[in-house]
Parts: sequence; structure tokens; C-alpha cells
Amino acid sequence: MDNKFYITTPIYYINDKPHIGHAYTTIAADVLARWRFGQGEDVTFSTGVDENAQKTVDAAAKHNEEIHAYTDRMAGIWESTWEKLGISNTDFIRTTEPRHAEVVSDFWKRMEAAGDIYRGKYEGWYCTACETFYKEEDLVSDGLCPIHKTKPEWVSEENYYFALSKYQQPLLDFYAAHEDFVAPAYRFNEIKSFVERGLEDVSFSREKKPWGIPVPDDPDQVIYVWADALVNYITVMGGIEGWEQHPADIHMMAKEIARFHAIIWPAMLMSAGLPLPGQIVVHGFFTIDGVKISKSLGNVIDPLDMAERYGIDALRYFLLREIPFGEDGDFSETKLKDRYNSDLANGLGNFAARILALAEKEELKKGKLDSAFELEIQKMQQTVFLKTKEYRFHEALAAVWAAIAFGDRYLNNEAVWAIKDDEDRRKKLFNLISLLDNVAAVLLPFIPESSRKITAAIQWEDDTLHAKKIAPLFPRIA
Ligand code: MSP
Repeated sequence: MDNKFYITTPIYYINDKPHIGHAYTTIAADVLARWRFGQGEDVTFSTGVDENAQKTVDAAAKHNEEIHAYTDRMAGIWESTWEKLGISNTDFIRTTEPRHAEVVSDFWKRMEAAGDIYRGKYEGWYCTACETFYKEEDLVSDGLCPIHKTKPEWVSEENYYFALSKYQQPLLDFYAAHEDFVAPAYRFNEIKSFVERGLEDVSFSREKKPWGIPVPDDPDQVIYVWADALVNYITVMGGIEGWEQHPADIHMMAKEIARFHAIIWPAMLMSAGLPLPGQIVVHGFFTIDGVKISKSLGNVIDPLDMAERYGIDALRYFLLREIPFGEDGDFSETKLKDRYNSDLANGLGNFAARILALAEKEELKKGKLDSAFELEIQKMQQTVFLKTKEYRFHEALAAVWAAIAFGDRYLNNEAVWAIKDDEDRRKKLFNLISLLDNVAAVLLPFIPESSRKITAAIQWEDDTLHAKKIAPLFPRIA
């Protein structure tokens, strides 16, 4: 076993800029990347953009922009959004990069050599918003896309198929041998029953499209965007050899694209004779104030706006604390503000400020922790570890806030600031500062900036503490 950990987000379409839903996935992946890094692992964390789609062409036209100018501009917006949000990705991949086209071609040839790519006539529906082929029976309410509720385009063309049906049994065997392949388990069950019902071959190219990666040896066809996009995970590892040495440990995404990742992608890898990823981690979809996120409804929330108004850590904290990971959830600025004031300003922020202000005035020496504190800290560390491992971020954070509440109660009940006996007061303050120090340590992957500020204010020199007051971490917002 190497010491590597490789985690990915989906590569996002660039027909628009990132909204809060995309930020959610990227932030959750960032927490895991930081967490594993903290455990000494050598982390590859990739995100990027999926450019070779029909919707890119449509969006460029809508903006009256030349397509390369458009893709460069949009890719820049996505990359800088993650940078401004302090995301720790180690790669940002664009599917228009030459490094990617090369790997996609190699990959295609491997599937072809396995006898899994064949020419055929495709007739059916295509939804550009999903970039997905649909059969008549998939459509809803008189022929609309089941996801976007828009009329898909009728496609009748010659293209290449991928022999997905051949992989039904191998996939089922693989699932049976890898109980955790898809998390959470109920999403895995959905995938399994879908595959059990039988798989059909899928169209894997489009005819005479000017945009996209050409099919090797057939310039009249471009590779279907999903057959190109999924391969990005290999490109990030430097190509096929890199992936063979270390396939992704975690692909993270929302439920609407789980089938691509848990069915088509493993089948493609089996066809190409390559190792499969470790786990597909799937979260729910969220709405804004109870309504589907949609540009036409005008309720799109820009994560940068939220970060600017409340801070990056508050946004991270809210997303991970409010929505049980895996389930569908709802984003509301009112709830964000409520949690900001109660959990961050009055909770962690206030606790840290009080303890540090008291500790600054004291000559504190390292001593022995009261057993109640020792236990509380241990319980918190264990819970955070186990819950983060299970992607139950909201429970991991709840456990930290339970420890903060414990510290708060102790501080108030003991009225530590008013204790006259120096030794007693210092001993109690030592309990509290140790708790705070450990709170900051476990929170590092979740709210890195604030955690670092707390840790920096608690400096031990040999046995002596040099604590410093800090500016309010989360000033109250009216
Ligand atoms: N380009 C494909 C993915 C290819 S991966 C090889 C794609 N792009 S996308 O821009 O539509 O991004 C979809 C992903 O964005 C979701 O799976 C999820 O990670 C995130 N989300 C987009 N909207 C979201 C919500 N409303 N709620 C939660 N996550 C959301 O699909």
C-alpha cells in the first residue's frame, strides 16, 4: 500500500458559473482531502471543468463569444472561484487540454481492442442540459426530460456504441465483492437494482459535431461527452499508468450522476482492463428556500457572495452542519445567518475569545488534565474520526459543538475568572485551554482558517503557555 489518497469532484459544466450546489460538493471533498492530509497522506485532490459538451457550444453562442474565448473565460471563473474559497485542490483539469485528449484516445482504443465499441444507428432523444440519451419511456409528462422537464432533441444518426450490456454480470459480481463501493448504502441499492434489471448498450459518440474529442480514426465522429469526461480521472494521474498505480480512492458527486460513475465508468474501466475506483460517494441535491436551483427562477446563490458576507469558514461550517450528508437538503440564507450567530459567534467564537483572554493574563504551566476533560476530549476525537470516515459530517461537527458546550458550562459553573486561588484557577484554565486546543485541531479540515487562528494563539514553549487574545473569529451579524 502506498501512502497516497486520491479524491475527485465531478468536472463541472461551464455553461454557467459555480453555484452553491457545486460549492457543496467541492467543499465536502476538500474536507476529506484536508483530513487525509492531516493523517500524513500524500493527497491528490482534483476538480475541473467538462468543456466538450454541446451545452458549451450553445452557451458560447448565447453569449456571442468565440468558443475558445468563452471556454477560457469560464474555466478561469471556475478555477478562481475555488481559489477564492481556499479549496486545496492539487489539480484543475480542463477537458480541452491536450493531456486529456491523448488519454481519451488511448482509452477509447483499449475499449475498441476489447471488442466493446461498434458502429450502429442511434435513434432516440438527447437532453443537452443533462448531456444524456433518453429512450421514449424515460421521458415524463408527454415527452419531457425527467430532470429538466424540457423537450429533448430527437437524434437519428450513425454512431459508435459501447457494449455496456456485456458488463451486467461482471458489475454485479464486483458490487457483491465490494460492499462499500457506493456510499451511502441506500444509493448502492438503487444502483444494484438498476443493473439487475438489465443493461443496454449505450451510444458513445456523436455524428459530425464540430466540438469535442474526435473518435480515433474517424474524424466524422466525436466522443460522447461522458465517455470523454469520466476519463479525466485518469488524465489527472498522468495517464493510464498512473491510474494503474493508484486509481481514485473516492469519486464524490450528487445523486443525479451516480449511475454514470457507478455503472458506466466501472464498465469502461473493465473493458479497458484497468483497476476500478475505491468508492463512489454520493450526496443529495439541494434546493434554495425549498425551490430547485435554477437560473430561470433567479434563485441561484453565488458561493463567493456568501463567503464574502459570512466568511469562508462560516459557509463551510453551515453547509456541512446543516445538511445531513447524503440526503437532499435546503439552503437558506436565513438559516445560515442563524447558525452563524448561534454556533459560530456565540458558540465557538465566544468560547475561544473568553478562554484566550483569561489565559493571556496567566502564567500557565502544562499539568495534568482533569479526567472529565480527558474523557470529553477523547470522546470528541473518536466521534469526529468515525463520523468523518462515514461522511457523516453533520454528526462530526455536532460532537465538536457538544464538547464546546461542555467547556462553556464548566467555565460558567466554576466561574473560573473569579477564582481567587491561583493554583486552582490555573488548573481549571489549563483544562479549558486544552479543550480549545483540541477543538481547533479536529476542526482544521472543516474550518481551516479559524482553526489555525486558534492554534496560533495557543503556543507552548516547553511547559509554559503563551496565550494571546484574538480578534473575534465570527463577529455577530445583525
Ligand atoms: N459534467 C458533468 C460531470 C462529469 S464528471 C466526470 C456534470 N456537471 S455539472 O456541472 O452538472 O455538475 C453536477 C454536480 O454538481 C453534481 O453531481 C453535484 O456534485 C453538483 N451540484 C450541482 N447542483 C447541485 C445541487 N443543487 N445540489 C447539490 N449538488 C449539486 O454533471
